Amino acid sequence: MRVKSLLRATGPAQNLELSGWVRTKRDAKDFSFIELNDGSCLANIQVIADTGLENYAVVRHITTGAAIRVRGDLVESPGKGQAWEIRAASMEVVGAAPEDYPLQKKRHSDEFLRTIAHLRPRTNKYGAMFRIRSRLAQAVHGFFQARGFNWIHTPIITGADCEGAGELFRVTTLDLQQVPKHNGAVDFGEDFFGKEANLTVSGQLEVEAYCLSLGRVYTFGPTFRAENSNTSRHVAEFWMIEPEMAFADLQDNMDLGEEMIRYLVNFVREECSTDLDLFCRFVDKSLPATLDNIADNDFIRLPYTEAVEILQKSGQNFEFKPEWGKDLQSEHERFLTEQHFKRPVIVFDYPKEIKAFYMRQNDDGRTVAAMDVLVPSIGEIIGGSQREERYDPLYRRIKELGFNPEDYWWYLDMRKYGTAPHCGFGLGFERLLMLLTGASNIRDVIPFPRTPNHLEF
Ligand code: 4AD
Ligand code: MG
Repeated sequence: MRVKSLLRATGPAQNLELSGWVRTKRDAKDFSFIELNDGSCLANIQVIADTGLENYAVVRHITTGAAIRVRGDLVESPGKGQAWEIRAASMEVVGAAPEDYPLQKKRHSDEFLRTIAHLRPRTNKYGAMFRIRSRLAQAVHGFFQARGFNWIHTPIITGADCEGAGELFRVTTLDLQQVPKHNGAVDFGEDFFGKEANLTVSGQLEVEAYCLSLGRVYTFGPTFRAENSNTSRHVAEFWMIEPEMAFADLQDNMDLGEEMIRYLVNFVREECSTDLDLFCRFVDKSLPATLDNIADNDFIRLPYTEAVEILQKSGQNFEFKPEWGKDLQSEHERFLTEQHFKRPVIVFDYPKEIKAFYMRQNDDGRTVAAMDVLVPSIGEIIGGSQREERYDPLYRRIKELGFNPEDYWWYLDMRKYGTAPHCGFGLGFERLLMLLTGASNIRDVIPFPRTPNHLEF
């Protein structure tokens, strides 16, 4: 039996078996009290072993962190704070935990817990985090499947650099001690694929092919960026959700992004309330208000040009001066959502120079139909756009940026055969989890974070 269902029992029960890890143990004269957690829920169940147990000597030596198996009865608890407890009839140590088990204290800092990422899910906070993460992943699928979107498994190994930012992790089987050369340059013709390959930074280009076939699609999988930025919002490996809709424009895209975030906020409040409550009480006291704000208010929709004007007139002493043509810095994004509008903001129609090649060019000749969804504390949580579906402007943009159109032949093909307006976006799953739990560091919402110079686990 799992603790979660035992704690929801409607009556006593005999001869149960349960297993889990000891959170704490307290010995009295005639009894030992064990707080047992099996990961099924936040709460522990109290197990009582009396000195009459056949192997009580073993019980006396059970320590915090040990894995144990218990047989006994579920009885009403006379103690405060719990309805049910287990009266043990027998108990067995499955795996002992010597006294150097690192999780002896009640609370540990997030920094310390990162150094033991293999054990931190045994704490209340990280147990709650990763149960929420699991439920939320399922909710993402639920959201899209209910709306007729098909989950497409885009490749992890690819030859394309979707964002054109050059933040690629190379995939190779070449012998690095003896790299084959051709005219002085590395000869990737000798490599596994006969050409350069890398881990994907986004499944977008590939998913567009399925969008222009199945109409409504999404990806949900790991993406990789060799971005050398050590911030609290970047990791080198993260999960991204990328919907793509055919016969749809930027307005439809904004509607979908907003609807999705609101759906997920409501989901976590309704379906993960016990785990979420831990974050509201111990991590971020303003979390309930943040979530209410997102659920109850329409997102602001603001052209980039107006955003820059607001920033310039703000009187704020920004580190980076807001200027038309420059990307918004996170200090700017946070000013807009946290101070100026006090709610999520969708900035759209960005200058084409600061956005990727595939975005649809607006008639003004200087902006593209891009959109970023900005939220309090985090800044950008979604980046998306309407795609350039017209062959000639796309071809010209690829040339202008110095890319080789031959590398994009299949992407251009889609504009040749049955092209249609379409749009989509990428939502960073970890940033979503930060928003929903109030976690302030992205390293704490993914099981084993990958950042520059960190690959311990
Ligand atoms: O804005 P980005 O780079 O957009 C794309 O990759 C598009 N191809 C998406 C699309 O239109 N289909 O990334 C999208 C989101 C960001 O808004 C952010 O939430 C997240 O991905 N993200 C990261 N999350 C964690 N660590 C990083 N290094 C991230 N880079 C982007
Ligand atoms: Mg972006």
